[in-house]
Amino acid sequence: MADTLTLGFGPFAAPARGVLVVFCDDGLKFGPNTRKALGAAADLVARAAKAERFTGKSGAALELIVPEGLKVGRLVVIGTGKVADLKQKDFLKLGGLAMGKLPVAASEGTVFAELPAGAMKPEQAADVALGVRLRAYAFDRYKTKRKEDEKPPEMRKVTVAVGDADAARKAFAPRSGVAGGVLMARDLVNEPANVLYPEEFARRTQALKKTGVAVEVLDIKAMQKLGMNALLGVGQGSARESRVVVMRWNGGKAGDAPLAFIGKGVCFDTGGISIKPAASMEDMKGDMAGAACVTGLMQALAARKARVNAVGVIGLVENMPDGKAQRPGDIVKSMSGQTIEIINTDAEGRLVLADVIWYTAKRFKPKFMIDLATLTGAIIVALGQEYAGMFANNDQLAERLSKAGEATGEKVWRMPLAPEYDKMIDSKFADMKNTGGSRWGGAITAAQFIKRHVDDKTPWAHLDIAGTGFDSRQNDINKSWGSGWGVRLLDRLVADFYEK
Ligand code: BES
Ligand code: MN
Ligand code: ZN
Repeated sequence: MADTLTLGFGPFAAPARGVLVVFCDDGLKFGPNTRKALGAAADLVARAAKAERFTGKSGAALELIVPEGLKVGRLVVIGTGKVADLKQKDFLKLGGLAMGKLPVAASEGTVFAELPAGAMKPEQAADVALGVRLRAYAFDRYKTKRKEDEKPPEMRKVTVAVGDADAARKAFAPRSGVAGGVLMARDLVNEPANVLYPEEFARRTQALKKTGVAVEVLDIKAMQKLGMNALLGVGQGSARESRVVVMRWNGGKAGDAPLAFIGKGVCFDTGGISIKPAASMEDMKGDMAGAACVTGLMQALAARKARVNAVGVIGLVENMPDGKAQRPGDIVKSMSGQTIEIINTDAEGRLVLADVIWYTAKRFKPKFMIDLATLTGAIIVALGQEYAGMFANNDQLAERLSKAGEATGEKVWRMPLAPEYDKMIDSKFADMKNTGGSRWGGAITAAQFIKRHVDDKTPWAHLDIAGTGFDSRQNDINKSWGSGWGVRLLDRLVADFYEK
């Protein structure tokens, strides 16, 4: 939900109200502007630090309520640790920590973007502001009964104090675009499936037109004509119609092959006839996190006017058991012409991707294809919730994704593809079956299935985000169930390697 945060930049000046957040290093050293603003309160800070054994370690915080000599109601000192160790993503974290120290009831905060050596660089201050923005997000549109003291204020205002406010504002502009994409992705993932079904998801992508993205929706008829029977088979047991949405952003040279991003958009995954157990099934409203990421990414690229051609294609379905639902044993012919024996109707994401990936390759002849999908529980067994699984047919693309992951903190771990695994999805009755037959290597056999719908000349990477797309371990810049994972990763990939 677009939150109620007003975020701005201003000069270093001791604020008259609200919360003041300042940073110190692991020697409890402040920058000159911070020292000046603290004035006599610096002594209080020193005493409080002693009393609390606060040493300015990275991420540690010291809080003083109504500190004498200052007008603010609360002073928060956040440790940066050793300044020399700070990496770019740490500035986001500092912003997140700062926002986390604003009590729910506080309507005003000032964050001094300063290190002991002086004001942070505009880029660093802008990263702090991005951290504030991402942390401030809360999905609370369905909460109607909160007590007075739990209610957030109508409007929250955070000012990031910097040396050069204009330069920081300029540096923040593209980041603001990226933040918008992340928050949009989080909203989509958090929405319940009775609200966000395929047609409604498609409707929400229309908002991207405002930023210059061309949006096209394929309905059932169009998909039938294209032969997307693998995707259609998944959706046929639902009262909600399936959709495919194509989003195009052309910020690069006319005629340049686009970068393609493809998302699994299973708006709800009951498992179908191979129905899932009841425990935690509600989480399957987030089975469209791949599609949400692609949508948020397209929004971000357009909002910051990325100098690149990109296309986002998402397959939107609902996987339900019903009289019309697909059965185990059914055989469908995918758009690629290959036949698939359905062994387990709960292995539906790969069926959706098979058609959407084939369609994207045929229509757009992209420079590369990256698909994102909450595809397998097996990837969570393998990697937990910290790294997403990455499968790729191209080393350069894999390396670039790894680098972008390290830079943004949205990390990917490369997993293997090999003919031996590929054999596991051969079928007795059709060209392939949709599961590997055993649970072993389940994320890999899923990737092998997708690979059969990718021609090997197109660089391709598959990101299995089942562990990171939702319910991922919350961190300093994310307190939301739907994490918006991947938007910053892919935005960074594009910025660092494809816009030059
Ligand atoms: N959407 C699930 C995977 C999933 C599980 C995502 C948990 C996030 C959290 C996917 O459609 C699925 O059901 N996969 C099956 C595949 C199996 C039937 C081969 C799985 O992982 O169990
Ligand atoms: Mn499933
Ligand atoms: Zn699924």
